Amino acid sequence: MSYKLFIPGPVEVSEKTYKAMTTPIFGHRSKDFVKLVEEVMPRLKQLFYTNDPVFLSTSSSWGVMEGAIRNVVKKGVLNCCNGAFSDKWFDVSKRCGKEAGALVAEWGKPVDPEALEKELSTNKYDAVTIIHNETSTGTMSDISALSEVLKKFPDVVSIVDTVSSFSALPIKKDELGIDVMVTGCQKALAIPPGLSFCSVSDKAMKRAETVEGRGYYFDFLEFKKFYDKNQTPSTPIISLIYALRSKLDDIFEEGVENRYARHLENNRIVRQWGYAHGFELFPEEKYGSVSLNCFKNNLDVDLPGLLDELKKRFAMVFNGGYGKIKGKTFRISNMGDETPETMKELLDNIDQILPAYIGKAKQA
Ligand SMILES: Cc1ncc(COP(=O)(O)O)c(C=O)c1O
Repeated sequence: MSYKLFIPGPVEVSEKTYKAMTTPIFGHRSKDFVKLVEEVMPRLKQLFYTNDPVFLSTSSSWGVMEGAIRNVVKKGVLNCCNGAFSDKWFDVSKRCGKEAGALVAEWGKPVDPEALEKELSTNKYDAVTIIHNETSTGTMSDISALSEVLKKFPDVVSIVDTVSSFSALPIKKDELGIDVMVTGCQKALAIPPGLSFCSVSDKAMKRAETVEGRGYYFDFLEFKKFYDKNQTPSTPIISLIYALRSKLDDIFEEGVENRYARHLENNRIVRQWGYAHGFELFPEEKYGSVSLNCFKNNLDVDLPGLLDELKKRFAMVFNGGYGKIKGKTFRISNMGDETPETMKELLDNIDQILPAYIGKAKQA
């Protein structure tokens, strides 16, 4: 059975993208592969707003998120924790054997610039991780304000996860001074999972040169050696790089600014729909994500029941909450190729069945 995905990743993949993936492959040391990388790289860098290298990693985002920790942390890493993915990054840092500290904010709250400055002033850290858009709570931190703080700490390497915000709004890596910016392909880029991206500044590369235990698969120095030849260190997921090439064609044909505006409009439509039904946004409105909406389930909707019927009757799915707020929240993604029309179609379908599920949530 196939159904349309409005979960916050992976998202719906277009026929065109699927078709691009069936292009016959070639060897990753061939001139044809070099040509393919030459075709995607300038446009990918444009989306990162960077002149730094962008490494292509055959892994999901966690690969390069863990890799970044292994490459740049010497003294200690401060993990900004305000949701499921950022909390997990703290755990991953410790599992990598690093000295790690957590700057904890309540789920649904953004990373606080003042608290960040105070914590970095302790001089305990030479790296920091921030999730720009906490997908678990639909909360987007103010990356400009945070980057102003980071600029006061030139010895700290910043690692920013833009997994669920990249290409949904501009995130100007070089201007913001982000050292390591990571993202994946299955969110706003609307490509099937398996390819992730990591753009690394000179400062972060220099740090990596001095760090022991970087391993091999995610070693920035290995990535850079092959990046300079328009290759990858090991056999990459070539089919997804074809998908990326096709998606970059789509993005630049639509126009990046138009794409950002479309995401914003999709997001607004869903948010207004939620408010009109009496749902409250989980984060404070001004920190609400532009790529998804996370609403409180304050109407006690039987989410499993609703989701089941939506899938059976309309072949569509959204998400019934993540981690410790599963059931207490729900999330609707507006990423990728969705349009105001497709968002309205989803919402109309939900409206047809929603009344029967309101007030029917089973208490855990
Ligand atoms: C903000 C964020 N970071 C990291 C991840 C992990 O990505 P992956 O499962 O593709 O490794 C996700 C996945 O949803 C995410 O939303």
